[in-house]
Amino acid sequence: MYDKGKVLTGLAIFVIIVTFPIWYNASGSEHYPNPKILTKVKDCVMPLAYMRSSHMKLLVDWRDEVLRDGNRTKVTVDGVKYQRSLQDGCMYCHKSKTKFCDECHKYVGTEPYCWDCHFVPKETD
Ligand code: HEC
Ligand code: HEC
Ligand code: HEC
Repeated sequence: MYDKGKVLTGLAIFVIIVTFPIWYNASGSEHYPNPKILTKVKDCVMPLAYMRSSHMKLLVDWRDEVLRDGNRTKVTVDGVKYQRSLQDGCMYCHKSKTKFCDECHKYVGTEPYCWDCHFVPKETD
């Protein structure tokens, strides 16, 4: 005869190992970035895919154009003009640095030094 206790224990361990990814994820140990869009405007200043991959380049381009070339032309989104500015442009729509920018930056482990000088908007909600 076989040892019923050992078989059951073995079976229990097997079930735990096989289902590990399911309850590991359900327990919330894994945190994916979830940047909150806190504006009623539907579009960003450039197409979404471009913003995801290249917003850092766009910011540097804006800075160079505004500061080096004195070009303060505004950017138009759905017929409304916005300043090409970190504080008064990006953060005008993306009001929460914590719930938006930091959400991704923490995940990838980057801390842009911009906020050494530029004001962080007051977190409202
Ligand atoms: C006019 C309001 C507005 C301005 C100004 C604006 N954004 Fe956006 N942004 C949005 C909206 C709305 C979305 C979501 C667009 C969509 O879902 O198609 C978005 C999306 C993004 C995303 C992608 C988020 C994701 O979930 O993948 C990034 C990154 C981003 N913006 C960064 C910036 C930066 C950096 C600036 C300044 C250079 C900026 N935005 C300026 C409204 C704005
Ligand atoms: C959808 C995710 C996402 C959102 C939202 C987002 N970023 Fe980023 N950001 C990234 C990634 C990914 C990098 C690249 C990190 C790297 O290269 O190490 C980055 C890099 C940057 C850099 C360059 C950092 C460096 O040290 O070179 C700046 C500046 C920046 N982001 C500004 C912003 C600002 C301002 C906001 C909020 C308005 C924002 N980002 C929102 C994902 C995001
Ligand atoms: C050493 C201080 C300092 C740091 C660090 C810094 N900036 Fe600036 N930035 C300034 C000053 C000063 C201006 C000029 C403000 C003006 O004349 O409107 C400026 C202007 C800008 C402008 C154009 C106008 C505006 O109001 O936004 C952009 C865009 C900008 N910076 C982006 C960035 C980004 C992105 C980073 C981080 C990668 C960064 N800056 C880091 C000091 C700084």
